[in-house]
Amino acid sequence: MNVYDGKRISSMLIQHGLKHVENAADADVIILNTCSVREKASEKIFSALGRLEKIKSKRQKLTKRPVIMGIVGCVARESGANAFRRQRALNFVLGPQSYHKLPEILLDPETPYLDIDLSGLEKFNALPAVHESTAVGYVPIQEGCDHVCTYCIVPYTRGRELSRDMMDIMAEIEHLAHLGAMEICFLGQNVNGYRGPNGKTLADLIRETAKIPAIKRIWYTSSYPTEMTDELIAMHGTEPKLLPIVHLPLQSGSPAVLKRMNRPYDLNQYISIIEKLRAARSDLQISSDFIVGFPGETDDDFNETVNIVNKIGYINSFSFKYSKRPHTAAALMMDQIPENIKSVRLKTLDGILNEQQRAFNQSLIGKTFSCLIDQNGKLPNQVIARTPYMQPVILDNAKHLMGKLVNVKITSGNKSALRGDIIE
Ligand code: 5AD
Ligand code: SF4
Repeated sequence: MNVYDGKRISSMLIQHGLKHVENAADADVIILNTCSVREKASEKIFSALGRLEKIKSKRQKLTKRPVIMGIVGCVARESGANAFRRQRALNFVLGPQSYHKLPEILLDPETPYLDIDLSGLEKFNALPAVHESTAVGYVPIQEGCDHVCTYCIVPYTRGRELSRDMMDIMAEIEHLAHLGAMEICFLGQNVNGYRGPNGKTLADLIRETAKIPAIKRIWYTSSYPTEMTDELIAMHGTEPKLLPIVHLPLQSGSPAVLKRMNRPYDLNQYISIIEKLRAARSDLQISSDFIVGFPGETDDDFNETVNIVNKIGYINSFSFKYSKRPHTAAALMMDQIPENIKSVRLKTLDGILNEQQRAFNQSLIGKTFSCLIDQNGKLPNQVIARTPYMQPVILDNAKHLMGKLVNVKITSGNKSALRGDIIE
């Protein structure tokens, strides 16, 4: 979602006549788009702002024009007016729902501007339409989260759940398809919790999107386990445009830890959702997020996570050391786990997840998949395509096929990438 926000901010400002520069020293407008889900993001942002303040004042002296500097996103929301006290060179502080106001703010940069309100989704209607063509269209359908997991800052920084109107979403998808998008990815902190007007659901959005001939692939992230409805699960078997992947964060394999995380599902329920998904579509794969070292996590709790990871078998999952976040209940819990234990557990879990990913990637060698070419590769003659499981495949001499779907036979692979040949 943050990457999406960053792209929308830059495309909006380009439409208002601004240009990208490579170095902050050449910029008249400096914006830091911030995330605070993990780590001490705010500390990092304020030390970066300290460095940028010097660059800003040097340029102002040189050009005799004001340089405008501000922060956008979750750290802005978290710091509020305090941000101006910590860094006097700031001109604006905008929460994740307010960045559409940037063009207006740039017209009057001398007045410090603060807006960290989360009460509406007006930004989506206020943002100018995307005008550059991309193979993949990322479409946020809801923001915020009502689950209130005890470790998570999202309900505080992005607010309670708000879903966009389905008509607005469909208009945006039609527009993206018109510009050349072949793949749509629905985004949301709790994407399968989407509830539009008249009870419209993510399944309704997928069904409507699949009717657009230009759109060939659809996926969504990130899902909450118990919001996987039977209708959505069944769709994985009936809608061929829906990619065979579901990101279904489990976070921990210990019932006791899940309870303290305020994730009120049991493991049998989670496993049964995966079994139903796999029964709907046998080639479907699951990825997940895990947190190690949550307060009070014992060796036995951690081993339960390892056991379930071994039992389920994931592709492309993420594991994180628990990090204390402000405004969260877990930050106040007793039995915080020492850093060295977190590191050992992370290494163990990462080792298993990486091995699962490598084994899955290598199991695809010799098979052919329809892949979407969506990026340039590192070498001048290389491009990157994505399989239906989102792994990158490096292809040679296919620059002319950028933005197209091609059949690719996988020839080799390791943990992070595949190589393949285009089959005519
Ligand atoms: N510490 C570590 N990981 C966290 N996540 C969210 N909050 C924290 C935290 N305080 C992870 C979760 C979530 C992913 C986006 O970030 O695994 O699914
Ligand atoms: Fe955070 Fe996800 Fe829990 Fe919502 S469901 S509170 S976004 S971890």
